Amino acid sequence: MKNYIHFPKVEGQASRQAHADLPAGTYEREISKEGFFGPAAHVYHRHPPTGWVNFEGPLRPHAFDCTKIPRSPESPWGATALLHNAAVRLRFWRCDTNMPALARNADGDELMFVHQGRGELFCDYGHLSFEPGDYIVIPRGTLWRVECAEPLRALLIEATNNSFRLPDKGLVGPHAIFDAAMLDTPRIDDAFRDQQDVDQQAGAEWRVAVKRRNEISTVTYPFNPLDAVGWHGDLSVTRINMRDLRPLMSHRYHLPPSAHTTFVADRFVVCSFVPRPFETDPGAMKVPFFHNNDDYDEVIFYHAGNFFSRDNIHPGMITLHPGGFTHGPHPKALKNVLQQAKPATDEYAVMIDTRDALEIGEAALQVEWTGYVDSWKSAT
Ligand SMILES: [Fe+2]
Repeated sequence: MKNYIHFPKVEGQASRQAHADLPAGTYEREISKEGFFGPAAHVYHRHPPTGWVNFEGPLRPHAFDCTKIPRSPESPWGATALLHNAAVRLRFWRCDTNMPALARNADGDELMFVHQGRGELFCDYGHLSFEPGDYIVIPRGTLWRVECAEPLRALLIEATNNSFRLPDKGLVGPHAIFDAAMLDTPRIDDAFRDQQDVDQQAGAEWRVAVKRRNEISTVTYPFNPLDAVGWHGDLSVTRINMRDLRPLMSHRYHLPPSAHTTFVADRFVVCSFVPRPFETDPGAMKVPFFHNNDDYDEVIFYHAGNFFSRDNIHPGMITLHPGGFTHGPHPKALKNVLQQAKPATDEYAVMIDTRDALEIGEAALQVEWTGYVDSWKSAT
């Protein structure tokens, strides 16, 4: 246990309950340690903390438009590198047809989020169909390939030298948000058996592109190595679709993003924003609160719907808020802090919060929307 200096106090004009009953005309900002779990203070400001008129230097909010990423090779190892640090690697992959070779990530578990496209995934464990909204966890070392019926656009999240796990669901118990029984695993079915190429032609070759230490090696077989007839155990590719998540909410309290944690790995978490009712208590905030994320870099990939707290963001975009400055709702969203016109959100997004600073890939800078930093400007 960390022994933080701990002294909850109330000074000046302040609410005693975070995110509710703010002093009239104020804007609440949370400053906190360890994401939303350490010591925190809520400061009540006269102006929105995002009301800057200028922002200079290397620190700034970023937005990248993955819909503008040029065509990449069908191999996941040709996917466009967006952001990375020692613990996580984010890439955006376009695969229009079928992979030319099998893939094996020897650097870490891969979490594939299917943004667009449909098709079949074949792997050591059998066959799994995929569709938009699917999260597919591919354990490190798994041999796999996809055949696309519709072009695939996917966010690839690598837990470098690490594994994806489920979060501790604490007070709400193991069946909340999603029941582990909802996780699908591949089947040894007819489709899997049919692709095994049992009667392979003489000279047929199957290549496996292995990524280890971010370098690719190729292993060639004279047969399809996806030739399992069965398996047993508690390690496999697993899938859950985002629409099957049942988000936590409170009608009286705006829950922090950590309530929407879906997968965890060492030094980063993956959260899912899915449609949920707005808070109804008159004093409860109905938009995300301003906050400093000083211990984390925050990334959001916008999948579908209407992103209620951000202007000028469309599906396929990705934002990066490095630690070190306050962020929060855009000016239009801020007008709805206590009253929303609609009963519920209709956004689908994936958030990746990393404990260590992220490096921005050169290809991401090519599709950056540089005006993002100015998009809060009228918030005064
Ligand atoms: Fe945030």
